[in-house]
Formats: sequence, structure tokens, C-alpha cells
Amino acid sequence: MLSEKINKALNEQIAKEAFASSAYLAMASWCEQKGYEGATNFFYKQSEEERMHMMKIFHFVNEAEGKAISPAVAQPEHDFPSYRSVFEAALAHEKGVTKSIHELVKLATDQNDFRTLNLLQWFVDEQLEEENQIQTILDKLNLIGDNGVGIFMIDTEVGKKAAAKDPAAEV
Ligand SMILES: [Fe+2]
Ligand SMILES: [Fe+2]
Repeated sequence: MLSEKINKALNEQIAKEAFASSAYLAMASWCEQKGYEGATNFFYKQSEEERMHMMKIFHFVNEAEGKAISPAVAQPEHDFPSYRSVFEAALAHEKGVTKSIHELVKLATDQNDFRTLNLLQWFVDEQLEEENQIQTILDKLNLIGDNGVGIFMIDTEVGKKAAAKDPAAEV
């Protein structure tokens, strides 16, 4: 049985994952309109992954005899000044999510809630992976430069990353 406090915190995390899914969908839309094929596929897949994250917590809460709440989702940002800025926004967003996962770990530790801790361990690893992935893309933009040719090259790489992703296999 989940404590009320943990249940509430997990529902807040469900809402954050839902917002992340919506935010990535908006990023995919911007990239698609601009013709950045690689980033378009990358962000569509990210959006799917975030929904999987949401569902992973959602099922956990109900299986642990808690009460999972389907969240209201705020409208995300749809306008970005540049290719680079989309990835910067994505990284800033992931860092915020990492922080909230770490706060959840602390809460579950304080309450000796080992089942929730076990779930969260997966998310700790996942956050590290996601932050690294986006940081790597930003590093390449810094290295190659975000002029037309640089972006074209990097977008091709990002497209390969997207093609290798299987959101359903992630969880
Ligand atoms: Fe997530
Ligand atoms: Fe994420």
C-alpha cells in the first residue's frame, strides 16, 4: 500500500511525464515544419517514450493499491528561435525532471518505501541516459557549428539515433 504522500508525489510525476510527452510533440512539430527530418523523428519518438514513462508510473500506482490520476496537461511552448534552442529547451526540461525524480527518491527513502524506490531506480538511470543523449547532440553542434551545413550533418546523425530508438522496448 502506498502512503498518501508517495501516492500524491507519484501522481505529480505522472503529470510531469505527460507534460514532457506534450512538450516533445510540440518540438517535433516545430522541427517538421522547418524540414529538420532527423530531429522530427527524434522528438516524435521522445514524445512516445515520455508517454511510456507516464504509463509505467500509472500502472505502478494502481498495482500498489494507490490511486493513479490522469493529469491535466498545460500547453507547451511551440515556437523556438533555432535548431539549437530546441535541444537546449529539451535538456533544460530533462534536468528539471531529473531533479524531481531525485526528490522522489529522497521521499521514498525517508519512508522506507522499497517498492517505489525500485521503480525509481529505473528512472534515475533513464534520466542520466536522456540527459547524456541530448548533451551529446549539443556538444556536436558546438563542435561542428550550427551553420546550414553543420545542422544538416547533425540532423542526419540525430535521425540515425531516432531510427535506432524503440520506445516500446524502453520500458
Ligand atoms: Fe520521462
Ligand atoms: Fe525524458
